[in-house]
Amino acid sequence: MTKKIYWGILGGGRIAQKFASDLKQVEDAELYAVASRSKTNAASFADLYPGAILYNNYEDLVQNPDIDVIYIATPHGLHYAHTLLCLQHGKAVLCEKAFALNSRQAEKMISTAKAKQIFLMEALWSKFTPSWQKMMETVRSGELGEIKNVLINFGFIPQAPVADRLYNPSLGGGTLLDIGIYNIFYAVSVLGKPDHIGARMTPAPSGVDEQCAVTLGYDNGAMAQLFSSYSAQLATEAHISGNKGRIRLTHRFYTPETTIEFYPGRATDHKHIIPVKPTEGFGYHYEARHVGECLRKGLTESPVMTHADTLLLMEIMDEIRRKAAIHYSADTELI
Ligand SMILES: NC(=O)c1ccc[n+]([C@@H]2O[C@H](COP(=O)([O-])OP(=O)(O)OC[C@H]3O[C@@H](n4cnc5c(N)ncnc54)[C@H](OP(=O)(O)O)[C@@H]3O)[C@@H](O)[C@H]2O)c1
Repeated sequence: MTKKIYWGILGGGRIAQKFASDLKQVEDAELYAVASRSKTNAASFADLYPGAILYNNYEDLVQNPDIDVIYIATPHGLHYAHTLLCLQHGKAVLCEKAFALNSRQAEKMISTAKAKQIFLMEALWSKFTPSWQKMMETVRSGELGEIKNVLINFGFIPQAPVADRLYNPSLGGGTLLDIGIYNIFYAVSVLGKPDHIGARMTPAPSGVDEQCAVTLGYDNGAMAQLFSSYSAQLATEAHISGNKGRIRLTHRFYTPETTIEFYPGRATDHKHIIPVKPTEGFGYHYEARHVGECLRKGLTESPVMTHADTLLLMEIMDEIRRKAAIHYSADTELI
């Protein structure tokens, strides 16, 4: 008989509610408890998951002995403290992206999990979706030739009520850690670790990046150009081009709902659509199912979204922030 995985959710905001909804699709998984400081958030969970225990603080959640794994859905500036809180109570963790504010925090989170032999994974959900997998299959097949260029943009204008986390530096505000991370993740998936990094940003009044432009350079001549913005409605598309053809991942390229268009040779109008298995729900069930499989096997690290994958993303974002002068107080604080 398959062991049922009992989930806890720490923080009851927007993404937590979507994740909880998708968790219903995962076999042998149950949302056991949610910790939310907000009565409104708690009420939404009571409607969505009537059987789940509702805590009004995070400490009670981590102390529940029946919970196998906790999904951390608080703003990035709190991931470090909340992950350590869970690990100190022996709980496996699936932590939302961006995993931490900087690589120093990420290293400490990972070394703590390793020392305690507890499962820890970044919730980089796109990597588990059929669309990301199909993109990688197409790139690896050689149909596009050698990939020389990745062009990605991700931008929207936040609508009221604007979540505090988007602009508040202490919560890790700014486009890079929130949405630019997807651009970097896709570029690195296709081209690997960059040899050179350039970056520039436009500051918001709070000092965090309202727009960020990144170039990744490779010694083999490949380049990636990546934009993230809270001040322009960008197409939010990814273009991956080689010397034989290119693919375009249409709007919301980082989700299962994107369409992958294949443009062979020099053609700009003759395209065909690469078929991808349709997804029920938002698409968070893929990563949740994977976490359950890892826990049943007794793994402390995912073989798909590894600790090294997380550290590489954090190190690249550290360097982008250094080049673009995006600072968080956590960069200078002793941890
Ligand atoms: N994978 C994805 O597709 C995806 C999409 C969106 C966001 N995210 C990531 O998920 C995380 C949360 O994003 P979100 O959009 O869900 O944010 P959100 O709606 O603002 O929710 C964050 C929740 O964190 C809790 N929290 C605890 N301390 C807080 C503080 N000082 N300020 C604000 N909130 C605090 C609150 O929950 P309670 O009041 O209920 O305790 C709040 O509702 C971020 O790291 C973000 O990057 C991922």
